[in-house]
This record gives sequence, C-alpha cells and structure tokens, in this order.
Amino acid sequence: MPGEPRGLWRQYVVPRLVHGACSLRVITEQRRRIVPEAEGVVLEVGIGSGLNLPHYDAAKVRRVIGIDPDPRLLAMSETRRRAAPFEVQVIEAGAEAMPLEDDLADTALVTYTMCSIAEVARALEEVRRVLKPSGRLLFCEHGRSDRPSTAKWQDRLNPLWRAVAGGCNLNRDVTRLVEDAGFEIAFLDNYTLPGTPGLLGFQYLGSARPR
Ligand SMILES: C[S@@+](CC[C@H](N)C(=O)[O-])C[C@H]1O[C@@H](n2cnc3c(N)ncnc32)[C@H](O)[C@@H]1O
Repeated sequence: MPGEPRGLWRQYVVPRLVHGACSLRVITEQRRRIVPEAEGVVLEVGIGSGLNLPHYDAAKVRRVIGIDPDPRLLAMSETRRRAAPFEVQVIEAGAEAMPLEDDLADTALVTYTMCSIAEVARALEEVRRVLKPSGRLLFCEHGRSDRPSTAKWQDRLNPLWRAVAGGCNLNRDVTRLVEDAGFEIAFLDNYTLPGTPGLLGFQYLGSARPR
C-alpha cells in the first residue's frame, strides 16, 4: 500500500534500483546484441525507462510502441523518447491485456521483463496476438539456470527476492515460456554474464517466430 514502508519502497526505491541495474555496462552490452535486430513497427514490452531506445537501428525501425504499467519508469524514459529519430508511443498498461489490435507489430522486443510480469504466460499470448504471423519475437532475459544446483537455490530464494526486487523472479524458464506461448525458437544463446552470480546472471538471448 502506498504510504506504508513496503508501498514507499516499491513506489520510490524500486524504480531507481531497476533503472540503475538496467544501466550497468554488462547489461548494455547485451542490449547491443539484440536491439538492432528489431525492424518495422516494434512492440516493446516493459519499455521501462527506455534504455533500449538508443540501440535501435533507426534505418530499420518505423515506430516503437512501448508498454509498461509503471508510470515512474515511463517518466524516466522521456529524454530518450524525445531523442529517438523515430516515432515512440508509450502506453501505461500491463502486457497481460494490451489495448492494441491484432497483427500490428513486425517485431516484439522483451528485455529483462519476463521475470517481472505477474501473468507472464498470458502476456506472451498477447504478444503473439499483436505480432504479425510473419513477425519476430526478440528476447534478452535472465532466468532459470541450466545448473540444477543453482536452479534449486533460485527456487529457494525466489519468494524473498521477489518481495525485495519489485516482483522480479529468479527462476523462470524463458525457453519454455516462449515455446508454450506458441512460438518456435529460431535462435538461442544461453550463458552466464561475466562477473555476475549464476543466481541472477543466467541469460536467455534469442529470437522466435509464431508457430
Ligand atoms: C527490470 S525492468 C526492465 C526494463 C526494460 N525492459 C529494460 O530492459 O531496461 C522490468 C520492467 O518490466 C515492467 N513490467 C512489470 N510488470 C509488467 C507487466 N505486467 N507488463 C509489462 N511490463 C511489466 C516493469 O515496470 C519494468 O519496466
């Protein structure tokens, strides 16, 4: 509840922590690997403070539609939105029910967001609906480790982590989520980010097409 310590933490501290963590150089390096692949009309799910905007290839992108339920993070995106050499529209809403028409986007981009969406399976179904049948889903996420001992610790620590980290989950299997939502993986790179603990640093970077 806003006004209570937990509400204040989520309202004022979490957005700044999220922006700070997402600005780390090691994360920026991952963005550079995936964001320039986007083309045409782009649906960016969980656009947050807009940190992907400078990494789009302006020669390929016509318009970015960013959706995010957090007004504080959206406000932080304003400078980058204004600097973008293409049209950027933001919608304050959760991805579980997007006020967007079917078959609208050529690309859907999701970076470090599948961990935080409360109903992630439903959100990915929505992504599939809004994406053209010929479109492509690009993702770069942290999630469930491929090392069973690390995954076990991710499961144990997840409730605590989720409470302090604004709803972020440590242990989501991104490949399975994408496939279960009706996509076929076209490319996937799994690796642990250098200098990060396996609990948080196991990456899923890839692309998928609607089946
Ligand atoms: C760790 S941040 C990543 C932000 C951005 N994608 C990036 O790479 O910098 C997670 C984002 O997911 C957003 N988010 C949380 N729940 C969501 C939902 N239901 N639908 C869409 N985005 C959501 C948060 O508001 C936040 O902006």
